[in-house]
Amino acid sequence: ANPSLLILAGDGIGPEVMAEVKRIIGWFGDKCGVTFDVSEDLVGGAAYDVHGVPLADATMARAQEADAVLLGAVGGPKYDVLDFSVKPERGLLRLRKEMDLYANLRPAQCFDALADFSSLKKEIVAGLDIMIVRELTSGVYFGEPRGIFPAEDGTRVGINTQRYTTEEIRRVARSAFELARRRNNKVCSMEKANVMESGILWREEVQWVHDNEYPDVELSHMYADNGAMQLVRWPKQFDVIVTDNLFGDVLSDCAAMLTGSLGMLPSASLGAPMANGRPKALYEPVHGSAPDIAGLGKANPIACILSFAMALRYSFDMGDEAARLERAVETVLADGVRTADLMGPEGGTPVSTSGMGDAILAALDAS
Ligand code: NAI
Ligand code: MG
Repeated sequence: ANPSLLILAGDGIGPEVMAEVKRIIGWFGDKCGVTFDVSEDLVGGAAYDVHGVPLADATMARAQEADAVLLGAVGGPKYDVLDFSVKPERGLLRLRKEMDLYANLRPAQCFDALADFSSLKKEIVAGLDIMIVRELTSGVYFGEPRGIFPAEDGTRVGINTQRYTTEEIRRVARSAFELARRRNNKVCSMEKANVMESGILWREEVQWVHDNEYPDVELSHMYADNGAMQLVRWPKQFDVIVTDNLFGDVLSDCAAMLTGSLGMLPSASLGAPMANGRPKALYEPVHGSAPDIAGLGKANPIACILSFAMALRYSFDMGDEAARLERAVETVLADGVRTADLMGPEGGTPVSTSGMGDAILAALDAS
């Protein structure tokens, strides 16, 4: 049977960028005989409009069954007034939680043609290709106790708890080591073992997984504050970085901006292997629904297209196809094809969302 892919285009520019991915999926079917069983469903505001909830139970069930889920974006001003329990974002949170997607992969890759866009010097970012693995389902964002409580002096106290178990650390460490084996065999783990008990455990357990299961991979440890500094000073020293939920949130946003526009950034969230050996997986661009440009044909589809490339590589074992798609993106950028978000101060004429799709399809044809 063909591998199955569930597409949840969502809101705002989600359906616009997804339309270009669908053309690319069609291209792989027509030109390479690589076919998927693609199905589509609603998420976010689009689901709320129809079902009164941002993710219907039936959609959740389909996501659990699918070999991979590809999501566009959710949210928009129309839904800002909704109760928190049915906000579009809750659809995405439900997917992540019920699929138990504990490893969030955030590549920071610099396409040479866009190196001028970085906030850093070109020579520091040109050719950069690193991967941050952020633990996504535990840590201080979830730990109990949490809340705002009355304090003894009559004021209040806000409490969150950083909590990690051995298994939570080991499983995300394994994801990082697996990735490293497919890349440059090098992992740097970041925590604050100098001031946090959970950081000490993190360091010990990552080391344990290394020594017992991945001794062939080069492992180093770094305090996360130094890691932030090193990311900006000399990012090419890293290959795979593995870190907890909170540090990963901050470090991945920081790393992302080393490489330029939000419209370029893909992500993957992976969980435990399913019966067929594939990990539970959700792929999505880092950007949101961009209501300011929705419906105008201005959105850059590359983040969503590169998210699909990650699906090819990490869910479907199609590394060659993924690389071919990534090379096509690189080619069009080198040729100067730019959506509006990629225009520099020197200006020029931007292409539309579908214009970028056309260029990438042409580059695929020529490859
Ligand atoms: P956003 O990422 O949607 O937009 C931020 C800025 O970047 C905007 O100026 C937008 O036009 C631009 N931008 C984003 N993606 C682009 C693309 N592909 N091509 C060209 N320009 C692009 O973040 P914002 O404005 O904070 O949030 C808008 C809505 O999206 C909100 O409802 C928010 O909750 C939701 N959101 C959803 C996310 C998701 O679905 N994973 C993630 C972040 C925000
Ligand atoms: Mg963040």
